Amino acid sequence: MEGFKQRPDAKSKAYQRFRHRPHANPLSDMEIILPAQRPDQFPFEKFYSMQNTPTKFDCVDIGCGYGDFVANMSKLNQDLSFLGLEIRDKAVAIAQQQLIDKRTNENKCNNAIVLRCNCMRQLPLLLPKQSVKLLTIMFPDPQFKNSKERRRVVSTMLVSEYAYYLEEGGHFLTCTDVEDLASFMHECIKLNGNFEEVEEANYTDLVKCALGQMDGTADAARHQRKDEDKRVFKHVWVKKM
Ligand SMILES: C[S@@+](CC[C@H](N)C(=O)[O-])C[C@H]1O[C@@H](n2cnc3c(N)ncnc32)[C@H](O)[C@@H]1O
Repeated sequence: MEGFKQRPDAKSKAYQRFRHRPHANPLSDMEIILPAQRPDQFPFEKFYSMQNTPTKFDCVDIGCGYGDFVANMSKLNQDLSFLGLEIRDKAVAIAQQQLIDKRTNENKCNNAIVLRCNCMRQLPLLLPKQSVKLLTIMFPDPQFKNSKERRRVVSTMLVSEYAYYLEEGGHFLTCTDVEDLASFMHECIKLNGNFEEVEEANYTDLVKCALGQMDGTADAARHQRKDEDKRVFKHVWVKKM
């Protein structure tokens, strides 16, 4: 992981003021180069600093932004593996720097990495079949206009893909502050047929921990600070056996 302190443009105003594009278009032809064409060839050992490089992931966070959730979860669960995926270059650099600093200063987050990728196109290069125990999508971009619906990270097609990567009995967790988007995601996941909604009484420890940390992301903080309606719509699903 590179972070941003080592980058030639680290001293630019973009980093100093965190002024960068809040959105990237996942449907554009932007090319994100990954170092392998198949998950079994991906050099994960160059990114994790755990003794045993994981080939399966305890938690994958789609659209992880600045990586707060991944960093906090990995500190609380040091024997588990975390993978954050984000499309925006500068958000990835900031997320990676956060992990690098925690590794250096606290000897934490060795079990977490953040990679730049377009989750709509590049998950097959990273994730083997049934390799994920918990998949999280927190505060995804709502893409309000109907014309932009195809850019959402939850859609009927992508939910089928997520089902392929999740292990049987694995959990899929979504949250948003946008009620319409919550209904849309709920419908997509329900219609897929591979998932069953989980009652609170049946949450696993990992799910409980993730739900607790959901409120600590950058977008959760923005929502609580700025929006009048403070509701967050959280849903937990389990992949059927
Ligand atoms: C509103 S932010 C939420 C970030 C973070 N989950 C949080 O709660 O603070 C949504 C994030 O998803 C990322 N994103 C959107 N489409 C993506 C895609 N196709 N692949 C990877 N990341 C994507 C955006 O760049 C953005 O950082």
